[in-house]
Amino acid sequence: MISQINQIQQDIASQIITSIDELEVFRIKYLSKKGIINQIFEDFKLLPPEEKKQVGPKVNELKDYITDVYTNNKNNLSQETSNINKQDLSLPGDFQNTGSRHPISLVKNEINAIFNRLGFTITDGPEIEDDWHVFSALNFPPEHPARDMQDTFFINKTPEIILRTHTSSVQVRVMENTKPPIRMIMPGRVYRNEAISARSHCFFHQIEGLYIDKDVSFADLKQTLLFFAKEYFGSSTKIRLRPSYFPFTEPSAEVDISCNCNGKGCNLCKYTGWLEILGCGMVDPNVLDYNNIDSKLYSGYAFGMGIERIALLKYNVKDIRIYSENDVRFLSQFTGVI
Ligand code: DAH
Repeated sequence: MISQINQIQQDIASQIITSIDELEVFRIKYLSKKGIINQIFEDFKLLPPEEKKQVGPKVNELKDYITDVYTNNKNNLSQETSNINKQDLSLPGDFQNTGSRHPISLVKNEINAIFNRLGFTITDGPEIEDDWHVFSALNFPPEHPARDMQDTFFINKTPEIILRTHTSSVQVRVMENTKPPIRMIMPGRVYRNEAISARSHCFFHQIEGLYIDKDVSFADLKQTLLFFAKEYFGSSTKIRLRPSYFPFTEPSAEVDISCNCNGKGCNLCKYTGWLEILGCGMVDPNVLDYNNIDSKLYSGYAFGMGIERIALLKYNVKDIRIYSENDVRFLSQFTGVI
């Protein structure tokens, strides 16, 4: 009988009880009326008195052991369940701040994607430039006011190193390095020495477009810009071109899109029904020739738009400064937009 008791003790020691249900199975097996411990007591009664003396303490030991195992497990398990009950499972999970793309990047990516679909590839150029790429190669006469200290940030006076005032400089970089046909858009940051206000900033972003090939016409330019306006601002958008002047394009135009107020007039369009979005024109033959592209063989169009300007219209924002202030109350409104 002693070896039977030892065996039972070993069996119990090797058991792991992990739930209330398992504990109940344990209780029924060992401690219930018909359980093992009662059976051992029954068998014990039948032993001759000599053996009873020897086996008695062992039987009691076994009973204590089983009861201890039972109560210890019971205490542990009830503690765990009460911990679980203390947790409020209806609380929302921990918030993971995933950040958001900057609205200027969102607008830039969307514009890039539209021109990508028309076969334009994307390229960029340096923000620190020289006079040649920003002005001279773009046909700016030496006395042109845009070269004025008021507009341009100078890094070095001689030789003249400046911060680019427009992404048109990348047109020159592209023409230097690429043979036509050229069909590219060039997004980037530009700098101007201007007073910071709700409508202008000393740095902002532009997207430049350039298409050079044989027989490129003004009609191609118009159609491309109409496609862009409809894709970006909605299929019912109309455009109008107003004659303008840029040194590097001839003829030049400024492009307006129809305002959502449908010509009724609103604050945004200042009651004109139209919103200016970009400048454009046919690349001046001088510019082609300066950059070793034969203007008798090739023609091209170019356009340039301010990304902040497009973003103001898109998100109906009134103050350009908000795009560079990094105010999370503004930026977090773009969470989840890709
Ligand atoms: N570079 C001009 C600006 O910053 C915008 C512009 C106008 C770009 C006409 C062009 C263009 O490519 O053809 O105001």
